[in-house]
Amino acid sequence: MKIFIDTANVEEIREVSTWGFIDGVTTNPSLIAKEGRDIVDVIKEITTLIDGPISAEVHEGLAKDMVKEAIPYAKMHKNIVIKLPMTIEGLKACKELTSKGIKTNVTLVFNLTQAVAAAKCGATYVSPFMGRLDDITLGTGAALIEDIATVFATYEYKTQIIAASIRNVEHVNQALLGGADVATIPFKVLKEMLNHPLTTKGLVIFADASKKK
Ligand code: G3P
Repeated sequence: MKIFIDTANVEEIREVSTWGFIDGVTTNPSLIAKEGRDIVDVIKEITTLIDGPISAEVHEGLAKDMVKEAIPYAKMHKNIVIKLPMTIEGLKACKELTSKGIKTNVTLVFNLTQAVAAAKCGATYVSPFMGRLDDITLGTGAALIEDIATVFATYEYKTQIIAASIRNVEHVNQALLGGADVATIPFKVLKEMLNHPLTTKGLVIFADASKKK
């Protein structure tokens, strides 16, 4: 499974880019707004930090307007993936961008049929939101990842699943076990993934032992 960072904070991206296991970046309007910067500048800067897929989200609206907004992003860098909302207009835009060879990520996916519709429109990625589903009914995030993975394998859809709205390490475990192709993970959870109390304790034991030598 590939691991993306879910942030628009360039300092976080700069730091994780040195860790060796980050494969890409996803952003969304809320994350960009948090940074208080121009979205185009942020996306441009991210392309210099990570050599992997970078999702840039267009504004929800008519397909023609989303396509128009998407083209300059796609021209900006080969790694740009256009993030589109899971709406009928978003699907139309997905189909058109796909026909132009532009990569897409259909976001705000909350059920299997939305994922299948996006796959049929040629989406490179679909983003089911684990955390927001679990906010309503615990366990439904993991179940959706499994269901989409099963159906995409059965019908041989090439679309990749990005497990999104990841709030904790358990969501990452569920994405791994459920067959997600990618998990996009906030900086805080990426750090938590690498911690275990026994690792910390083990380091203390080893350090004490070497002092006693
Ligand atoms: O990738 C989508 C994600 O950023 C949404 O996360 O925590 O706002 O549900 P959250």
